Amino acid sequence: MILEVKEVSKIYQSVNRKLTVLENINFSVEQGETLAIVGASGSGKTTLLGLSAGLDQVSSGQIYLAGNELGNKTENQKASIRNKHIGFIFQNFQLLPTLTALENVMLPLELQGKASMAEEKAKELLERVGLGDRMKHYPGQLSGGEQQRVSLARAFSNTPEILFADEPTGNLDDETSEVVEKLLFDLNTEHNTTLVIVTHDMELAEKTNRIIRLKGGKIISDERLHVQTENV
Ligand SMILES: Nc1ncnc2c1ncn2[C@@H]1O[C@H](COP(=O)(O)OP(=O)(O)OP(=O)(O)O)[C@@H](O)[C@H]1O
Ligand SMILES: [Mg+2]
Repeated sequence: MILEVKEVSKIYQSVNRKLTVLENINFSVEQGETLAIVGASGSGKTTLLGLSAGLDQVSSGQIYLAGNELGNKTENQKASIRNKHIGFIFQNFQLLPTLTALENVMLPLELQGKASMAEEKAKELLERVGLGDRMKHYPGQLSGGEQQRVSLARAFSNTPEILFADEPTGNLDDETSEVVEKLLFDLNTEHNTTLVIVTHDMELAEKTNRIIRLKGGKIISDERLHVQTENV
């Protein structure tokens, strides 16, 4: 299992009110699986993705990511686990504003001490998402869809074992969405990368092997769509 989520709850406590955003969530994901998390706005999808990737703390329960229980890890240890095993595409991109598109994509590899190959790999990925002529642009000089594609290239650069993508095609036109979807599923095929995709797009969700539906912070269904085919 690349990811195990056990009895996880997330509660936000304010002065006079307790807000339960996720309640007793259980699921596990095998290496190479592709899965979509769907549900209405506010149902807890982004929160669940952030917890699974070790970007946020559970209120109760455990999360095992690539065999590491995240609850007892320091922020530095979690950052190192993320850099080694995962890619993340944020709903709001989270590119570093003072770095160019190229530098943003190079960063995960530089953090891994692979600076010598970083530029070549980053250029290749940016070409693949159709941004070969935007490499020197800063995020503020890119459109929303272009920033999303930079974020995608960055998520791929360390060849992650598991990729978390929050609405990866949410800001893209049909043609670019297709390019991005193809990249996601090619990565899955080429490197047996596990994909966990949050999406409102049921067409995209149905291209995965499994759909988990969230409603009001609970899993209301967990359905396998296709028989998982072995990679040859
Ligand atoms: N830091 C926070 N403090 C308090 N409440 C929060 C916090 N972050 C999220 N929430 C609440 O948790 C709920 C779930 O938020 P989340 O972002 O996970 O929803 P979502 O399913 O991703 O929605 P969308 O489809 O709109 O992106 C929302 O009601 C939100 O208001
Ligand atoms: Mg969200």
